[in-house]
Amino acid sequence: MNPIIESFFDPHTSTATHIVYDKTGGFAAVIDPVLDYDPKSGKTHTFNADKLLTFLGSKGLTLVWILETHAHADHLSAAHYLREQTGALIAIGEHINQVQEVFKKLFHLEPEFATDGSQFDVLFKDNETFTIGSLTAKAISLPGHTPADMAYQIADAVFIGDTLFMPDVGTARCDFPGGDARQLFSSIQKLLALPDDTRLFLCHDYPPAGRPPTLESTVEKQRTHNIHVHDGVTEEVFVRMRQQRDAGLDMPVLLLPAIQVNIRAGQFPEPESNGVSYLKIPLNQL
Ligand SMILES: [Fe+2]
Repeated sequence: MNPIIESFFDPHTSTATHIVYDKTGGFAAVIDPVLDYDPKSGKTHTFNADKLLTFLGSKGLTLVWILETHAHADHLSAAHYLREQTGALIAIGEHINQVQEVFKKLFHLEPEFATDGSQFDVLFKDNETFTIGSLTAKAISLPGHTPADMAYQIADAVFIGDTLFMPDVGTARCDFPGGDARQLFSSIQKLLALPDDTRLFLCHDYPPAGRPPTLESTVEKQRTHNIHVHDGVTEEVFVRMRQQRDAGLDMPVLLLPAIQVNIRAGQFPEPESNGVSYLKIPLNQL
């Protein structure tokens, strides 16, 4: 059975969120939902997430899964909000524990902050399968951008997280703690070994001037045109290119707030005695 897919784009963070479902009136998964966050005021909103809820309602869909491809560094996740609204389960790759450990140390989080992934409902292993109504989905481990990156494959559609971007943009950075360009290269080879007409749904698009945001590509287009990893690019050439590029990149604007929320599955840190949640900024650590 083929999935039905509706994609949403948040222009503030260049993030794609996808809803995949089996049929009108059936069951759905949301992949990588965005919580709106204004870094100037510290205010959060649920504009993007409410659009998803409106769409689900308009199609009579029951949300059963909130799937994170990884702990994002460029936007706060709306997973917790959507779980509260719908009761759906939040899932991420099992190696999220490594990401939690790294950032627990960096942010000097409270001793009781668990680094076993227990803030999430389900931790997928590589090749683990699950169902979305009458659809069968498979989690595919794709480390490199972070150690915990997962793609989700449903029939001929794969939601690939931060691995490949559009062919004219290239590939995801590998310089966050736990990132590894060599691992990303082999993860990308897993995707490129899929049948040519496999549809690849992206996590971000950063379109050059004149091209509208595009959230879907194919294995064939990536193998032919991806500026970083088209057919014929060797691991050595890729790794050198990726490391050189990463050395010149700024940290994402929302990295510090996003990671602190996203390693908690989208929950804010425990409020302090005045009832307010705070985020930390480690000085001179990145
Ligand atoms: Fe990312």
